[in-house]
Amino acid sequence: MKKADIALVGLAVMGENLVMNMESKGFTVAVYNRTTEKVRNFVEGRAAGKNIIGTYSLQELADSLEKPRKIMMMVKAGQAVDDLIDNLLPYLEEGDILIDGGNSHFPDTIRRTEYVESKGLLYVGTGVSGGEEGALNGPSMMPGGSPAAWEYVKPIFQAICAKVEDGSPCCEWVGENGAGHFVKMVHNGIEYGDMQLICEAYQLMRDGLGMTAEEMHEVFAAWNETELDSYLIEITRDILGYKDENGETTVNYILDTAGQKGTGKWTAVSALDEGVPLTLIGEAVFARCLSAMKSERVEAEKVFPKTIPAFEGDKAEFIECIRKALYASKIISYAQGFTLMATAAKTYNWNLNYGGIALMWRGGCIIRSVFLGKIKEAYEKNPALQNLLLDDYFSSAIKELVPAWREVVAYAVKAGVPMPAFSSALNYFDGYTTASLPANLLQAQRDYFGAHTYERIDYPRGQVFHTNWTGHGGSTSAGTYNA
Ligand code: 2AM
Repeated sequence: MKKADIALVGLAVMGENLVMNMESKGFTVAVYNRTTEKVRNFVEGRAAGKNIIGTYSLQELADSLEKPRKIMMMVKAGQAVDDLIDNLLPYLEEGDILIDGGNSHFPDTIRRTEYVESKGLLYVGTGVSGGEEGALNGPSMMPGGSPAAWEYVKPIFQAICAKVEDGSPCCEWVGENGAGHFVKMVHNGIEYGDMQLICEAYQLMRDGLGMTAEEMHEVFAAWNETELDSYLIEITRDILGYKDENGETTVNYILDTAGQKGTGKWTAVSALDEGVPLTLIGEAVFARCLSAMKSERVEAEKVFPKTIPAFEGDKAEFIECIRKALYASKIISYAQGFTLMATAAKTYNWNLNYGGIALMWRGGCIIRSVFLGKIKEAYEKNPALQNLLLDDYFSSAIKELVPAWREVVAYAVKAGVPMPAFSSALNYFDGYTTASLPANLLQAQRDYFGAHTYERIDYPRGQVFHTNWTGHGGSTSAGTYNA
């Protein structure tokens, strides 16, 4: 019997769909699952008659594979991956490749790469985005790990992944150890931001302009023909137009408390660790937390009742302003996300290709959009671009969008409609474009109570000064204690 090109362990929906996808591209796939009944159900059901080999022990799995063995793990993130690696190792030999396609946290992937390499094997941690449908028809894939593994997994990954119009695969080598899972994490953070922005635009139209779901369905349909053309705008259009069997708009009946699985939080925490102002994604994570406090919000609205004033003005014109404000905020979010990647790349010694990352996200994944094509172009023009806002295309776009953006945020603030992502994006923009911030005063405060010293504008950088602000604190400057 022909040996399998690759094995997949973990037959939940994502795993099964990836197997079907690989098989449809001409690969023979061996499968295994801890609960072996699932293997039987799969090979006798969906996989019947296909080049899919069911195996019922790890020994059988190892024996069924062409060497070097490639085993893709699609199991629950966390301890399960560590356990599975340890269970598999005794059946594998030097040069074999273990691939984790789950949603692992990148520090785990850094640690596992080192561990598996220490045993003489190769490791790949790959982001896989696009949900169940993407897994079946073409996900965006972000692999990192042991560079020597890439030539072996490349033909399979680039065959099964999504492609953009010109046929380019949405999968390229990202970088060493945890780089792939890191980039996938940032993708998810950006997804939180994109979703929050759309939701804020929706709330402003609903509560500020008094629009119905049907009206907003039309607006999102029109927006999808502009720079905002993307998967998330498209599904929002469809959701707003969706009616149940009684003719009622389903979204109007959904409880307004958001769930989260933690990848947005990881992105925000990583930004805090790296000291990168990733304000929009941070707000998007907190907005989900606030939404979850439903009963408290209901009580608080009774204490602070509000009436949002009726909109007086040209509605169509204002809707266009909301579109522009959304676009501007989105540019900020991606600028912040790419800055986080560039900063982490220095910390972890990754040599990231930002144009390549934009291309990987261009198709297959949840944040896929036309906009990412422009980001790819920006980084192709200048691979060392410091901030997306400084690219010619995006700086001219932002300049054109700013007046509408300010108008929308100001209106929401006055009317009492919460727009944390739109407004934090504008605040970041205003801060980033202000040469002189009030941190001179902040440094004075730090020096006053903690003798933390400061630099002066009339002396070279690096030379520090301390002032005896009260006249009785002594003149000792100290970085040795914290107040
Ligand atoms: P199961 O069907 O035996 O539960 C998603 O939960 C997938 O991860 C399932 O295929 C599940 O297998 C698998 N999984 C979860 N924990 C696991 C573990 N500790 N070892 C192996 N597979 C595991």
